[in-house]
Amino acid sequence: MSSLEKFLSAVRERVDKKIDELLKPFEPQILYEAMVYYLKNGGKRIRPALVAMGAYITGGHPEDAITVGTAIEFIHNYSLIHDDLPAMDNDDFRRGQPSCHKKFGEDLAILAGDALLTYAFQILSKRELYRNVSADRLLDISNLIARKAGIEGMVKGQVMDIRKIGDLEEIAKYKTAALIEASLVSGALLGEVSDEELYLLSEIGEKIGILFQIVDDILDREGFYTQFGEEGAREIAKTFASMAVQQIRALGKPEKTKLLEEFVYYLLKREK
Ligand code: IPE
Ligand code: IPE
Ligand code: MG
Repeated sequence: MSSLEKFLSAVRERVDKKIDELLKPFEPQILYEAMVYYLKNGGKRIRPALVAMGAYITGGHPEDAITVGTAIEFIHNYSLIHDDLPAMDNDDFRRGQPSCHKKFGEDLAILAGDALLTYAFQILSKRELYRNVSADRLLDISNLIARKAGIEGMVKGQVMDIRKIGDLEEIAKYKTAALIEASLVSGALLGEVSDEELYLLSEIGEKIGILFQIVDDILDREGFYTQFGEEGAREIAKTFASMAVQQIRALGKPEKTKLLEEFVYYLLKREK
């Protein structure tokens, strides 16, 4: 296993544990079950991996990165539950299993999504959960994640997508890249980081997010794949990867950013 693969599998393992620690069974049980259904049904955990990489680069506490990464994973999974609903993408399956509304009904799927989104901010704002972050920083992190998950990011992008507002790149920037960018930057905010580094990291996160969506479209044969063909879409993804790598190098911390650079190529080459 490469050091990147080891890092990714350690993050996955720790996030799985953290989900159980942070979200224990409660009544009514059906709400708990609908909330954890997607969370415990696979998922690549790329957002928590980016939080962990951001924290690694700036010296943030790794356990705090897992906590923030898990909260972001709650938001991501809420977005998938709602995205699959009949009124949205109307998908009966996710990750090879019946989608949340197929299993629990639309009413519970909507509410489980609402609960996951709200619970994420309950976790982000609970100071006692963190080892080494100031309350000010937690507030900055929560604000960033709220912006990038909501009207300045993911929700905005979902609306652009369903109403066909803007081009594919713009839609991807909001719908997918915003939360991916917030993941890397919130990880970085757990440690010591300058404004210039924050600027670069958010640019890097955005490029990684767009390339992630392009590769997703190639694998699903939609979006960029449909518009530009496989070769065309690959070329665009590669361009975003090289821009990201250029900005990673501009951070000037090669030993700390090596993993992130490898992750860019890993995401470019992924086959599932
Ligand atoms: C799927 O995201 C939706 C997109 C934004 C493309 P992921 O591919 O990260 O979802 P999981 O959690 O790994 O299934
Ligand atoms: C939805 O994007 C993911 C969100 C940003 C909520 P897609 O519709 O392209 O992703 P899949 O194919 O359902 O995973
Ligand atoms: Mg969808």
